[in-house]
Amino acid sequence: MISNQKTTERYSMFHGDCVDVAKTLPDNTIDLSIHSPPFSNLYIYSADPRDMGNTKDDEEFFEHYRYLIPEMLRITKPGRIAVVHCKDLPLYAGRDGAAGLKDFPGRIIREFESCGWTYHSRVTIWKDPVIEMQRTKAHGLLHRNFAERGEVVRQGCPDYLLMFRKWVDEMPDKQVKHSLVPGEYVGENMPTTYRDDRDYSIQVWQRYASPVWYDIKQTNVLNIKQARDSEDEKHICPLQLDVIGRCIHLWSNPDDVVYDPFSGLGSTGFEAIKMQRRYIGSELKDSYYQASLDNLDEAEAISKQVGLFV
Ligand SMILES: C[S@@+](CC[C@H](N)C(=O)[O-])C[C@H]1O[C@@H](n2cnc3c(N)ncnc32)[C@H](O)[C@@H]1O
Repeated sequence: MISNQKTTERYSMFHGDCVDVAKTLPDNTIDLSIHSPPFSNLYIYSADPRDMGNTKDDEEFFEHYRYLIPEMLRITKPGRIAVVHCKDLPLYAGRDGAAGLKDFPGRIIREFESCGWTYHSRVTIWKDPVIEMQRTKAHGLLHRNFAERGEVVRQGCPDYLLMFRKWVDEMPDKQVKHSLVPGEYVGENMPTTYRDDRDYSIQVWQRYASPVWYDIKQTNVLNIKQARDSEDEKHICPLQLDVIGRCIHLWSNPDDVVYDPFSGLGSTGFEAIKMQRRYIGSELKDSYYQASLDNLDEAEAISKQVGLFV
């Protein structure tokens, strides 16, 4: 059921279950999708049974997620890309019988492949292990254990982007083109010395082609405070705008339609609209849906101002 919806020149945002929303979208309309699914049952965003984080275990999570993945394939244009942001998940001795990690990305790859997507590439996004240690107090990251119980220590957990492609032998539609002018770059460490536009473009490509992205501004995220329910602050973990912006730069053209089924605060749409793309999003939780409308409206105002000067 879709309980609310707002459509403007640049976006359509739906308040409802992403599976219901995806079913209403026509075949072959999405140029690029970027989403961060609920990480199985690691966080529960709401008590709603349609909340994909509100599941008892991985099996239940994937049973629900499996309704979305084929719909995403159907609505994506042939040849285009879906980006999934995820990470390894913790195993706890008390709950799982042993402390360690679960290969959540591997499971996502298998689910997408079994629905007909082609696994296209993977990026590792560097994360600071000190921040993870402060946030989670994970035993494996404590210096005390490094000194005295080395067998339990481990590396910090990075984020991953998994890219899937709706495979076609020949691109039937317009292709994604990059004719960069110096200054067009998303992330830190922008090339500063180059011979000409082509050299600049090659240097940008070499940074984007890196399998590990070290140059993402970790704190560049939408403000959590905008979600009005104070309980939300514990749970939502907005995706870094640099990550989204770089994917949009890599895999879409201006005016393309970018889609995020798990819109949260609207980070994907915020960046897409600012970068002169159009956006379709869905979000189940009312406070996030309302917050995302504020963010999308702000992005639309920014993009119109930018449009006046180009
Ligand atoms: C990991 S968060 C996404 C955060 C988002 N990328 C951002 O930057 O704000 C996952 C989101 O999925 C939403 N969600 C969970 N189940 C859903 C469903 N069935 N349909 C739509 N949204 C859902 C949650 O409320 C939460 O906002």
